[in-house]
Amino acid sequence: MRHLTRIQDLGPEGVEKILAQAAAWKRQAPGPIFQNRLLGMVFFNPSLRTRTSFEAVMLRSGGHAIVLDVGNGVWKLEDRVGAVMNADRAEHIKEAAPVLSRFADMLGVRAFSQGGGDEEDEQDSVINSFRKHVTVPLVSMESAREHPCQGLADALTLRENFGSTKKLPVTLTWAPHIKPLPKAVPNSFLLTAAAAGCEVRVAHPPGFELHPKVRAEAEAYAKATGGSVTYTHDQEEALEGSRAVYAKAWGPATRAGHAPGDVAALLASYSGWMPTRRSMSLAAKDAIFLHCLPVRRNVEVSDEVLDHPSSRVVDTAENRFHVQRSILQWILST
Ligand code: CP
Repeated sequence: MRHLTRIQDLGPEGVEKILAQAAAWKRQAPGPIFQNRLLGMVFFNPSLRTRTSFEAVMLRSGGHAIVLDVGNGVWKLEDRVGAVMNADRAEHIKEAAPVLSRFADMLGVRAFSQGGGDEEDEQDSVINSFRKHVTVPLVSMESAREHPCQGLADALTLRENFGSTKKLPVTLTWAPHIKPLPKAVPNSFLLTAAAAGCEVRVAHPPGFELHPKVRAEAEAYAKATGGSVTYTHDQEEALEGSRAVYAKAWGPATRAGHAPGDVAALLASYSGWMPTRRSMSLAAKDAIFLHCLPVRRNVEVSDEVLDHPSSRVVDTAENRFHVQRSILQWILST
């Protein structure tokens, strides 16, 4: 049985297959490939794109989707092994995952970081608990560690704009925010771009490092694909000549133990990292701009960058549909 909760489930070869299939089906839709199939979607967190794009994939491919919002008409779910369930979580994933598997042909789960820090995020306990207890294929709709559907949609956008991603210079830059955000999106952009052979430059202020295991995995993919990954605290250095600029707020690296006021002050001290047209002018002339959305305008990214013709944020959101159709077909096949 196939699951896709990490880019590791695909590796560089699988990434190529998903991207090629998604591109082919974007040109010519495959018809009702999910006829009589049911996708169960379990959301622990809100969504606009993920929810609608998965539902659209199922409905436009002859299937159906059921959406469950945990804690809102659905029991709050416990993931901790051996938990004494005497608080508000009324059902354990140990029962919920196999029960939902009796009704649906495949399951999707969205469960963000619970804010306990990098090591807790690396454990990714909610999605991994589902992975352990489902009896049908599972797809991540974003977990604490990764957002693989987003990373694959980003890579498809790069392919569409530049033909090939082999040695394509792309910058993943940290961007400011009003609060510390999870690292799933930057992790997935880094891992997928490295698996697609890009020359990835990661720029962030000191203290916002990505997890060493994520960096090691990206390094292995780059080695396998002829790409490269470099890190810098100098945003301008990274942007120089980049063909794509991906901005995202995340971190800091060890937010557990930080007082909220300290983190807010730290984030505010780097407000100059917000991408503007001036920073985009350092990139290549044909550089495109990417962001996963949602984005806080004029905090994380300036209006002038988001409204510029080089922005591909909406195209990339559309590509969620195309890669997810390909992903669901992949997890259903054996
Ligand atoms: N990019 C993304 O996953 O968007 P949503 O949070 O709206 O689903």
